[in-house]
Parts: sequence; structure tokens; C-alpha cells
Amino acid sequence: MIEHIETHTDRKHLQSCIELAQKGDRAVFPNPFVGAVLARGEQLLAQGYHIKYGSDHAEVEALRAFGNEETVPPDATLYVNLEPCCHHGKTPPCTELIIQRGIRRVVIGALDPNPIVGGKGVQYLRSNGVDVIEAADPSPFRILNCRFYTFHQLRRPYVILKWAETADGFLARSDNTSRWISSESSRDLVHKWRNEEASILVGTKTVMIDNPQLTVRGRQSTLVPPLRIVLDRSGVISRAARVFDDSAPTMVITEVEDLKVFPQHVKVVKVSSLDDIKGVLNVLRDQGIISVIIEGGSLLLQSFLQSGYWDEIRRFKCPLEFKAGIPAPLLINLPASQHNTEKKFGCREQLYIDRKDGEGIDLCQTLVNPTTLNFLGGES
Ligand SMILES: NC(=O)c1ccc[n+]([C@@H]2O[C@H](COP(=O)([O-])OP(=O)(O)OC[C@H]3O[C@@H](n4cnc5c(N)ncnc54)[C@H](OP(=O)(O)O)[C@@H]3O)[C@@H](O)[C@H]2O)c1
Repeated sequence: MIEHIETHTDRKHLQSCIELAQKGDRAVFPNPFVGAVLARGEQLLAQGYHIKYGSDHAEVEALRAFGNEETVPPDATLYVNLEPCCHHGKTPPCTELIIQRGIRRVVIGALDPNPIVGGKGVQYLRSNGVDVIEAADPSPFRILNCRFYTFHQLRRPYVILKWAETADGFLARSDNTSRWISSESSRDLVHKWRNEEASILVGTKTVMIDNPQLTVRGRQSTLVPPLRIVLDRSGVISRAARVFDDSAPTMVITEVEDLKVFPQHVKVVKVSSLDDIKGVLNVLRDQGIISVIIEGGSLLLQSFLQSGYWDEIRRFKCPLEFKAGIPAPLLINLPASQHNTEKKFGCREQLYIDRKDGEGIDLCQTLVNPTTLNFLGGES
């Protein structure tokens, strides 16, 4: 039987687990963000978080911080935003450690969606006499790990669509002379976003026209850079394109049988049709890619919108006017009961970014797919 009887104190410590988990970054992928707190009533005894893939889990970190030789008080509770693991992966099962350390009460935020855990951690603890409480509302914990839940339960990466459009609704000029639509400050934010995702994907024409490098710049990062992904149906992209330089790994997804002559850090994957968006996402999933930010152009973004396989739109509306050009993607293919208007999306965030050049502001909107909101159990 599932128990939902967490107290006010439990909720407070679970909130601390979220804050600790958020100290983790892309280095944990494809693992989730996890924080753990050991407490006795209101008193914090120790805490820890999962720092990177392959390193100790949050529970192990918290118990080490408490002291491996110390006896855990019998009235202590271990809090963790995600169900403790019960399998031998890169590290031993946390459930064993919890039992060995004599912890009698565990409060978790949400069950682990990974089928190798999926409720078995809770069952194992309960069958060993540990009182396990599950949060009545798992949605904040699912939202924290939106990438991980999407990856395991929907079997695809979390998909973010990003673009900048002019005030009159264009993504680029038709003569390829657009340069930047968004301001430098907005582009700094895009570099921060890139650093938060496992991969960055762009369409063929964007590579051929803009020749982007698709790396994280403007901030120090010791991490492995996000994977760059380009779609190249018939092998038309020049091998000299910046996206193939050695500053980051790259994947080319193509329909060509035997696309060759790439350096070692470029992986080529053949699919039967690039128009099958689910098929493209399956390639990413099979490579263990937990999230992707899609940075245009318009045709590619429209394909994703049309398919319904997207979770967030991050759109900059900028004060320039082009009068003509490549139209910005249309917000289409909402669930049947909804109208084609952005008001029907979950608008999670609106930022006003000063362009610093006396040209007004960029409006940055984050719109969440209603289907994603339902899936994660957030507000709709
Ligand atoms: N403002 C912004 O935020 C922003 C961002 C990025 C780019 N841009 C601008 O956008 C322009 C390029 O945009 P675009 O819309 O013309 O081209 P795009 O989306 O970059 O590339 C489209 C091409 O990708 C290939 N492709 C392969 N699979 C696809 C799929 N499933 N769906 C759609 N396309 C697929 C197709 O070429 P094949 O038929 O040959 O396979 C298609 O013509 C450039 O001028 C660039 O500067 C602006």
C-alpha cells in the first residue's frame, strides 16, 4: 500500500533535497539530479548530492558527510527526492547502505521511472522493515528531473525548441544576410541553456548558411561539451563546416547508406527517413542522449512542432522588423481541445532582456507543451 503521510517537516527537508539536487549539472547525465538529507526532526544531520555520472549517489554522499563510522540515531530520517536504487550499477545499491546504516525511516519525492528500479527500491526497503513515505504530490520532483522521466517513461529525449524572431514574425532574411536577431545578452542566455542539455540539434540549411560552431561559449566549463547533431539527408554539408571542428563531438544523421570522410569525433548514423521525427529521436535515445535543444531553422522547428514531439519552446521576440523573409515557426498541433494560440500553452516564464544598444528589449518566453505539463503533473 502506498503511504502519503509526509509532515510539514518532511516537506521542508524534501525541498532542501531539490535545492541540493540542483547543484548537479549536465555532468550527471544520463543520471538524474538527486539530493539527500539526513535529519532528526528539524535538525539537519548531513546532506549530499549526486555530482556526476558514475560517482557516488546522493544518499552515499549524505551518509559519508555524516560520518561512515558514526551511528545513525534511530529516530533519524533520510530524505531523498528520488527513490533509492536497489541494483548494482556503476555504484552499489543505496537500499543496502540504508539498511546497513540502520536507517528506519525514509521519505522520497517520487518513484524512479527507470524500469530497473521502478518501485523495487521502495519495496525492498519496506520488506526490510524500513518505513518509507512517498510525497503526496510527486510533481515538483518529476519536474526537477523532467529529462530523466521523459527519457525513461516516454523513451525519448526531452525536447526544447529554441528560436529568435523579429517583431513582424521572421526567423531570417531570405537573402541570408540576417546575422543576429536577438541581442548579445539573449545569446549569453542561450549559451547557458546549451550547457544545461545533453545535445544541440540544427537543420541542414542552418549549418550551410550560418555555419555555427554550436559550442558553449562565454562561460568557463570543465564539462564535456554537449553533443552537436546535424541532419544531412543526402550528404550536402561541407566537411569544412565549423560544426565538424574538434571542439566538441558531433553526430550526423543521414539517409545516405555510407557517408564517409569525417574525423574520428564525428559519428554518422543512418536512418531510413529524416522526416520521421520519432525515428530521429529514437536514434538519440539509443545513444543515451537524455535531452536536446533544437536551434532551428524554421523548417526543422516546424517539423518538430507538427510531430508533437516537443516539450518546451524558448522563443525570443525581438524588436527588429524584416518585412519579408523566412517565417518563424507556427505554434500548431495542439491537443484537439485547444486552440492554436500561445495562451493555451503553459507560459512558464517571461523574461525581458535589455538589448543594451538602445534598441529596446527582447522578450524571452518559455512555453511548455500542455501534454508535457500533464505528463510531469505540473500546473496546466
Ligand atoms: N532566428 C533564429 O533563431 C534562427 C535559428 C536558426 C536558423 N535561422 C535561420 O534560418 C535559416 C534556415 O532555416 P530553414 O528553415 O530554411 O532551414 P533549416 O530548418 O535549417 O533546414 C531545413 C532543411 O533541413 C533538412 N531536413 C532534414 N530533415 C528534416 C526534417 N525532419 N524537417 C525539416 N527539415 C529537415 C531539409 O533539407 P533536405 O531536404 O535537403 O534534407 C530542410 O530543407 C537560415 O537563414 C538561418 O540563418 C534562424
